[in-house]
Amino acid sequence: MLDKIKDLLAEIESLKAANAQEIEELRIKYLSKKGAVTALMNDFRSVPAEQKKEVGMRINELKTRAQEKINELKAAFETDDATSDDIDITRTAYPVQLGTRHPLTIVKNEIIDIFSRLGFSLAEGPEVEDDWHVFSSMNFADDHPARDMQDTFFVEAHPDVILRTHTSSVQSRVMEKQQPPIRVICPGRVYRNEAISARAHCFFHQLEGLYVDKDVSFTDLKQVLLLFAKEMFGNDTKIRLRPSYFPFTEPSAEMDISCNICGGKGCSFCKNTGWVEILGCGMVDPAVLELNGIDSSVYKGYAFGLGIERITNLKYSVKDLRMFSENDLRFLREFESAN
Ligand code: PHE
Repeated sequence: MLDKIKDLLAEIESLKAANAQEIEELRIKYLSKKGAVTALMNDFRSVPAEQKKEVGMRINELKTRAQEKINELKAAFETDDATSDDIDITRTAYPVQLGTRHPLTIVKNEIIDIFSRLGFSLAEGPEVEDDWHVFSSMNFADDHPARDMQDTFFVEAHPDVILRTHTSSVQSRVMEKQQPPIRVICPGRVYRNEAISARAHCFFHQLEGLYVDKDVSFTDLKQVLLLFAKEMFGNDTKIRLRPSYFPFTEPSAEMDISCNICGGKGCSFCKNTGWVEILGCGMVDPAVLELNGIDSSVYKGYAFGLGIERITNLKYSVKDLRMFSENDLRFLREFESAN
């Protein structure tokens, strides 16, 4: 009898089941009225009196263990069941929240697209620059008062390592490597030490254009800029060039477009003038060509530089420059459809 109990215990210990039905079958096999454990209890009657105490204990142990084992199988099965319930492969996927392109990127890409169609290719340069590429190569003399036009950030108080104040530094980077014909646009971030307000920031984005070839005239410049303005702001857009000064262009001009917020009638954005300034431009000063290794008796060029924030403000009526760098999702999501 004790051997039988031992064998049955070993058998029960090794039980396995693949599903609820198999567990139920095992329960019936061992613990139901006609089950093996119950049968043993029936045999108990014929156990000699002196063995009854031990056999009784063993049978009780077996019964408890059999019940436990069935419960363990059920528990294991139920947890399995629960996890497989969690993964419902028929459910529709969670919606993925798509990001949006930053408004400045959208506008920058649009500008690149327009100039690419006119044959301009892309060029880039570093944001941490040296004095040569930002100023000297662009015809700013060492003590030139024009250096004060752009408040410079110095890196680690080193006078020669600066954050570029304009993308004109990329003009120099391109010319030192390449002879004409040159036709490039250079988008990038620039830095100026200015107090942050709705109208000024210590960093912003520009896009520089440079064209150097044999017969380049101011008329070419004007036509390219007119075409750009119409492509960017619509066919009715007018441009106006006002004489200006930059050390690296001669003659120089600032270009206004008819205010596209009020359609030229006058509003607070254009300060009731009907015009808004969007870029600086001019014929490349021959001195700049020479400083950058290009023969000014053979080649001429034009250049322009525009502020991407300014164009974006005009296009999307953004009135506060700070919006562009505050990562406010409510603002950024407004550009979802423009992506
Ligand atoms: N670099 C000038 C600025 O930052 C813009 C400019 C570029 C003007 C090219 C003329 C030609 O103000």
